[in-house]
Amino acid sequence: MDIENIQNDYLARVEAAADIESLDAIRVDAIGKKGEISLLLKTLGKMTPEERNVQGPIINGARTMIADVIAARKEALETAALNARLASERLDMSLPAPQRHSGSVHPVSQVMDELTEIFADLGFAVAQGPEVEDDWRNFTALNIPETHPARAMHDTFYFPDKDAQEREMLLRTHTSPVQIRTMMDVAKRTDGKGEPIRIIAPGRTYRSDSDATHTPMFHQVEGLVIDKAIHMGHLKWTLETFVRAFFERDDIELRLRPSYFPFTEPSAEVDVGFSVEKGKRIIGGDRQGKEGGENGGWMEILGSGMVNPKVIENCGLDPNEWQGFAFGCGIDRLAMLKYGMDDLRAFFDGDLRWARHYGFDAHDVPTLSGGLSGKGAAA
Ligand code: PHE
Repeated sequence: MDIENIQNDYLARVEAAADIESLDAIRVDAIGKKGEISLLLKTLGKMTPEERNVQGPIINGARTMIADVIAARKEALETAALNARLASERLDMSLPAPQRHSGSVHPVSQVMDELTEIFADLGFAVAQGPEVEDDWRNFTALNIPETHPARAMHDTFYFPDKDAQEREMLLRTHTSPVQIRTMMDVAKRTDGKGEPIRIIAPGRTYRSDSDATHTPMFHQVEGLVIDKAIHMGHLKWTLETFVRAFFERDDIELRLRPSYFPFTEPSAEVDVGFSVEKGKRIIGGDRQGKEGGENGGWMEILGSGMVNPKVIENCGLDPNEWQGFAFGCGIDRLAMLKYGMDDLRAFFDGDLRWARHYGFDAHDVPTLSGGLSGKGAAA
């Protein structure tokens, strides 16, 4: 067969190729490694120079022409395939979107983030301590005498065995041992000289107790400020600033009631004013502080006081030089008051319906006043 016939034969086959696969088969047959034209090209080497001068351009020309035609046909086939797809595929915008099952942030985590943000703005660092604590840091160093009811077995989860250093171990009953750890660290680091402290310590706490407002595991946030001239005015301002930022209202009043904690002197329990509007309790408002009334009143939210000099001394710091305030507040209760849940036990049941209803969008970056304006429980 002469080269022109071969060439025409391929051109006809390319023209007739209906899809990319058959086109590729033709390419292999013609100009693939062992293709017909490729084999012809190899014969050039055995020709005389005269023959080669004639045959070379002819065979190479055939190769180029076939390659070009294949490329053009390929493009045409591809365009046709794309057009066919565009014509056949339709988006039905009326179909329901697939359900998005993203998790949600637990209200306790949300509230911890919120209060950490607020106190960070006030210059507080976050301190942590272990949930398995020793009896000395949880009680003794905090000036809680052996006879204090908090030490009674029915409140505290004790471990049956002592640890390697013969210490009585327990699940911490409050976050106050983090005060001890923080002050002892400072005393150690500064060789007993001391330095200003401003920390909060949010975390889990445990007491053997269970009803609508108590669970065996719950959350507290501790606050501790130590400096040379810290007084109760600083305590009140700090708590007022915190409570107003947290509940996102400027009209919230605080009441400090004299109280007793072994580790603070003097001690105060702190109440927030609430009003009843349309049958619902809200923090702040016109009716707050209306003692005993149906319309408003005071609600206890935390314990506080000036750190007892004995506690400062127990930690290895000089109580004649350093003084400050501390407070401890239930986080779960803060969440209930802000976001309107009424049974604490549901916080830890792990019921997905509850978590979806009260949970927060994980995409929301917590901000100082994140909760109420964001998606959250209100949505
Ligand atoms: N630890 C106390 C409690 O759990 C709260 C508290 C902390 C009181 C710090 C005063 C100072 O009830």
